[in-house]
Amino acid sequence: MDILIIDDEKNIGVAIKGILEDEGHKCEFCLNYSDGFKRLKEKMFDIVFLDIWLPDTDGVEGLREIKRYFPETEVVMISGHGTIETAVETIRYGAYDFLEKPLSLDRITMMVKHLGDKLNILRDLRKSKFNLIKKYDLIGVSDAIVRLKDKIERIAAMNSWVLITGENGTGKEHVARLIHMLGKRSDKPFVEINCSAVPTDLIESEMFGHEKGSFTGSIQRKIGKFELADGGILFLDEIGDMGLPMQAKLLRVLETGEFTRVGGNDTIKSDFRLISATNKNLPVEIASNRFRSDLYYRINVIPVEVPPLRERRDDIAPLVNHFIKETSAMNGIREKQVTDGLMRLFTDYDWPGNVRQLKNIVERMVVLSEGDTMDLNDAPAILVSGREEENIDGGVDCGSTLKEARDEFEKNYILKALKSTNWNISQASRMLDMERTYLYRKIRVYELDKYRDK
Ligand SMILES: Nc1ncnc2c1ncn2[C@@H]1O[C@H](COP(=O)(O)OP(=O)(O)OP(=O)(O)O)[C@@H](O)[C@H]1O
Ligand SMILES: [Mg+2]
Repeated sequence: MDILIIDDEKNIGVAIKGILEDEGHKCEFCLNYSDGFKRLKEKMFDIVFLDIWLPDTDGVEGLREIKRYFPETEVVMISGHGTIETAVETIRYGAYDFLEKPLSLDRITMMVKHLGDKLNILRDLRKSKFNLIKKYDLIGVSDAIVRLKDKIERIAAMNSWVLITGENGTGKEHVARLIHMLGKRSDKPFVEINCSAVPTDLIESEMFGHEKGSFTGSIQRKIGKFELADGGILFLDEIGDMGLPMQAKLLRVLETGEFTRVGGNDTIKSDFRLISATNKNLPVEIASNRFRSDLYYRINVIPVEVPPLRERRDDIAPLVNHFIKETSAMNGIREKQVTDGLMRLFTDYDWPGNVRQLKNIVERMVVLSEGDTMDLNDAPAILVSGREEENIDGGVDCGSTLKEARDEFEKNYILKALKSTNWNISQASRMLDMERTYLYRKIRVYELDKYRDK
């Protein structure tokens, strides 16, 4: 089994590690709580030995946090002199048992053996849960993200409805899934409906289901997503894009808690926790008569705002490192390093597409760059010149992603400069206030040479 010992007394860690490794277990130890918790998120451990008194955190608080994230990991508290009463208390918070110092090594071996029998049965289930927690953990160290995490941990345990707002790619769905995983409904489904992607005439049947023969093509009964979400979470994504007629229907269902399948008569009830998300500013939508205020009040019981990345620049470096790690693991390659200059470019950039844009760029760079270190030469053009374009009206049609629109604009703008200077690179680079080498890179990236004689 994999065992983690968190105790600030090094010899305790060494002692436990020593005897358990003799029994064939894999042990690691950390000397403070925050290192320990970080390690727990990186790797699945079966058992944690946790000291009640730690330099950086009260062990009981630690226990509660560990149990919130990893309810199936067994925690054994280690109690020093004078903390026995607290140790007994911890059983209430989900500790498996406690050990008193000085430690009885026999007792530890026995305990681990018992736990082994118990834990093996559920190993696969625990593994898949652990992978989900790892996937949806919120990476970031900024005050904003720390506060957001605290809030999520608090509200996850409740049943109140949540409205998540934030710009494109800030992590709204990520947050919704974390709330699901840390909450009481984590064993029940997380059912998502993208309200903007479904055509209006289909959305009703998607939400509430339909009976056989209720309309042309409905050859069999379909269970709607509201019904599927029974006991779990219903995630209404892009709710700000829902049309007014559907908003009226939705409101009625949310008020009564009842609905019928399209073409059916049976009243159906479903017990779901509603989490909605939007990148629209709903009060503005309400003022322009595009969103119903009564629906807004109904869904917005607990507001959660995910701030844009440019307002929490401290998160950029940890996110870059996280996505490098993730991409390397996924592709089975060695983790690459980032030079300081490149990291500065990342942290200075405004990230209009937020975390999603950052993730895509890092992923692409990791895959395409050569060597073990990534530097400025590996950076995509958009990062280097991002700021020059900002004040100019793009004139690109809607329908593409912001990134595509920006790329398209950049390409055209550079092409214009090149044409107007008759492909004089020095002149064009001065005009664009862009270094010649970067201009060359862009010409290559956008394959502008092919327009040269046109
Ligand atoms: N703090 C974070 N830590 C780790 N990954 C994150 C974080 N925030 C976002 N991500 C990742 O970034 C990507 C975009 O996040 P997500 O899809 O949740 O954004 P969104 O706000 O729902 O975007 P949209 O408005 O386009 O629907 C996802 O792959 C998500 O897992
Ligand atoms: Mg989303």
